[in-house]
Parts: sequence; structure tokens; C-alpha cells
Amino acid sequence: MDVYTENPNYKPVSFSSTTITELMIPSYSNFGGKIHGGIILSLMDKVAYVCAAKHAGNYCVTASIDTVDFLQPVEVGDLVSLMASVNYVGKTSLVVGIRVISENIKTNTISHTNTSYFTMVAKDENNQPVQVPGLILEDRTQVRRFLEARSRRQLKHNYKHETEKIVMPEDEEICREMLVGERCTIAS
Ligand SMILES: CC(C)(COP(=O)(O)OP(=O)(O)OC[C@H]1O[C@@H](n2cnc3c(N)ncnc32)[C@H](O)[C@@H]1OP(=O)(O)O)[C@@H](O)C(=O)NCCC(=O)NCCS
Repeated sequence: MDVYTENPNYKPVSFSSTTITELMIPSYSNFGGKIHGGIILSLMDKVAYVCAAKHAGNYCVTASIDTVDFLQPVEVGDLVSLMASVNYVGKTSLVVGIRVISENIKTNTISHTNTSYFTMVAKDENNQPVQVPGLILEDRTQVRRFLEARSRRQLKHNYKHETEKIVMPEDEEICREMLVGERCTIAS
């Protein structure tokens, strides 16, 4: 009996791993001739949905995106590939890690565009969050990704807690003092 049969409420990472490849056509470009970041974001949201919904066996929504830092511009004519896999599961949420690369087919060069993490939440027919299956980690890389995602989740929780403590002082003079050295001015 394999591990999947032994754990019917668990699915292996490979069950939902998804790759999509798309040709970057001229209508995707901005005034500078490079591909709009929004095109890449839209493709990322799509592949995250496919991967999450397949694991969850339910409709999923995007709850948050953990940073999108574009490392390289993408050119018209490039082939962009997005490789997505479930990195982590909570109760009703899961984290899909997405690696985006672009390939120049003439020169055979491949550039790493970005790696981002989408938190997706599974919903039932009443639009309520619903439990997702557990995750079967098949190798050390998957174990590392799970642990990293769990740490990011904890850091995000701490960050939210800390930023909630930021309050604007009532006294305008104190605000002015706090803004000394910043490139802004309070009108009037
Ligand atoms: C995200 C959403 C489902 C959370 O709903 P909620 O009633 O606050 O649900 P809960 O507080 O019970 O959280 C459900 C899960 O989502 C996670 N979650 C909620 N907000 C989150 C956020 N901003 N970032 C990461 N995870 C989040 C929780 O940690 C929880 O995970 P767990 O069950 O694995 O522990 C809800 O706010 C929603 O539907 N938002 C709109 C999503 C959407 O439409 N996206 C597309 C935008 S166009």
C-alpha cells in the first residue's frame, strides 16, 4: 500500500503541481517595450488557482501574496513558464510557491523572473472556508519548503501584530518632529 492510499485525507505535492507556459505577445508590452508586470501577476494568480483548487478539491480564493520582486525584465517573444506547487497547508488555507522563468528561444537563455508565495483559501458552496487535505511531502526539498512557509506565516503574524501598534500621535507638533528628514511636508 502506498502512502497516498494509507492517508486518504492527504495528497502528495506532485498531485497538484502545475506548470504553465505562455508566449509574450506584443500586446502584453508597456511603453518601454517590456512586458507589463500585471500580465505576469495575472498568470501567477491563474497557476496558483489551478494548483490550489486541485489540491483542495474545492473552489479557492487568493487571500494574500507574499512579495513579488521582479528580478529581470521580460521581453516580447520570450516564453514565460510558471512552476507552481503546494508548499504548505494549514487548516483551510494553503501556500502555493511559484517560480517564474522567462526563456529567450533564439539565444536559449533562461532568466529567473521571480519567486512568490500565494496564500489561497478553500471555500465551500456557502462561500465559507473549508478544510483542505493534508500534504504528503515526498522529498527533502518539499520538507524545506513546508518549514520555510510555516516560518513566513509566523513572521507575517508577528509583523501584523507589530504594525497594529503604530498609532499616529494626536499632537501635530509631534507629527512634524517625527517627519523631520523625510521628503514630505504637511500642507498649511
Ligand atoms: C481570505 C478570506 C477567505 C479569509 O476569510 P476569513 O473569514 O477571515 O477566514 P479565517 O479568518 O477563518 O481564515 C481562514 C484561513 O485563511 C487564512 N488567512 C486569512 N486571511 C489571510 C491573509 N491575509 N493572509 C494569509 N492567510 C490568511 C487564515 O490564516 C486561515 O488559515 P487556516 O485555516 O489555514 O489557519 C476572506 O477574507 C475572503 O474571502 N477574502 C476575499 C478573497 C478574494 O476574493 N480574493 C480575490 C481578490 S480579487
